[in-house]
Amino acid sequence: MNVLVVGSGGREHALAWKIAKSPRVEKVFCAPGNAGSGRFGGNVPLAASDHAGLIDFARRERVGLTVIGPDDALAAGIVDDFRAAGLRAFGPEAAAARLESSKAFAKDFMRRHGIPTADYREFTDSAEARAYCATASYPLVVKADGLALGKGVVIAQDIAEACEAIHQSMEAAVFGDAGRRVVIEEFLVGTECSIHALIDGSSHLLFPDARDHKQAFDGNVGPNTGGMGTVSPSGRLDDALLERVRTEVLDRFVAGAKADGLDFRGMLFPGLMLTADGPKVLEFNCRWGDPETQVLVRRLESDVVDLLEATIDGTLASCAPTWSGETAVCVILASGGYPGSYQKGLPITGIDRAEARDGVVVFHAGTTGSPDGLVTNGGRVLGVTALGADVAAARAAAYAAADEIHFANAQRRNDIGVAP
Ligand code: AMP
Ligand code: GLY
Repeated sequence: MNVLVVGSGGREHALAWKIAKSPRVEKVFCAPGNAGSGRFGGNVPLAASDHAGLIDFARRERVGLTVIGPDDALAAGIVDDFRAAGLRAFGPEAAAARLESSKAFAKDFMRRHGIPTADYREFTDSAEARAYCATASYPLVVKADGLALGKGVVIAQDIAEACEAIHQSMEAAVFGDAGRRVVIEEFLVGTECSIHALIDGSSHLLFPDARDHKQAFDGNVGPNTGGMGTVSPSGRLDDALLERVRTEVLDRFVAGAKADGLDFRGMLFPGLMLTADGPKVLEFNCRWGDPETQVLVRRLESDVVDLLEATIDGTLASCAPTWSGETAVCVILASGGYPGSYQKGLPITGIDRAEARDGVVVFHAGTTGSPDGLVTNGGRVLGVTALGADVAAARAAAYAAADEIHFANAQRRNDIGVAP
């Protein structure tokens, strides 16, 4: 079978790498992909938004399975379009992907189905939102309803900050239509981690947990990024907490989606806050995390294609994947200046030396080929992954490999896996 992966980041290279290991797979195409993702069958110069072009390609190349990476493609209904064309695609339909693309929709879903989450109010009128902020206690969390590239959440320390966030989102429209509606919620205290679970409409299959490091700099300071590195397991979820996640989040999610007539077949990736009252859901992502995927595929020993197909076919209950007991670490090498502005087109060297090391795989994110060889082409450039017996060993291996790789102004965190 041929497989098509849609997207161009490190997540997509990691998925293509793992899919290519399946004995059932001939070629893995990636659209539009990056310099790493093209090694398993080739990159296709089509954007994730070009549904008709991608459907044509899938038909022409006899693609048996298309795997969607990015959230905006899912929200735009790419899976609906593939299914309408009689093609198999992995990911939720647009109506279900709204659980990521509208925070108000997700909060309402959680409230109605008893999924633990922060208390909240939803506003479409900025004057009403401001009036509410005058009575609330602080800190208070103000969230743009829609997709805002990870920038739509403000933790307001006082009423002035809350009102400024409301103004920016609802009146100045810095997130466009995505911020016309806001969710204002209670500030939760605890530690964060994220889980991934495949959902096939009637059951769920929980993956090992992972932890992302979202701030740009060591010690969790600096601006929020897409993610500067991951570790799996996170060391934060014990068996008792995992059981609560299964029953209070995943069981209720599956039952709730069914009750609401949402056809959710795909990856559910909830961000969790582990509070004194137990795990609470901060947000739902309806896709694989980036760079969570990079560490999860390193630990997955079973054939990922079997899992993707079982999710589409509703047969997850018969799957029992095996996972490496080792720890996986992914260190992101980013362009200097990221997540702000940065230069592109800088030559990259040393990936071969990095990958010659035991247990190391380097996933590309923002890279492209050029007449001068491999060059940078995005904010997050590479994800250097390593397996080790424990966090210390995996970290040592990942950082030793990262030390082999060079491009001008490279930026990374040195505390992935051990940050507070
Ligand atoms: P979200 O996009 O909803 O995951 O929010 C982004 C980040 O804001 C999260 O990773 C948390 O660090 C923080 N955050 C969001 N909601 C809350 C909350 N209710 N209480 C405390 N922190 C939050
Ligand atoms: N690593 C965070 C995300 O994929 O949303």
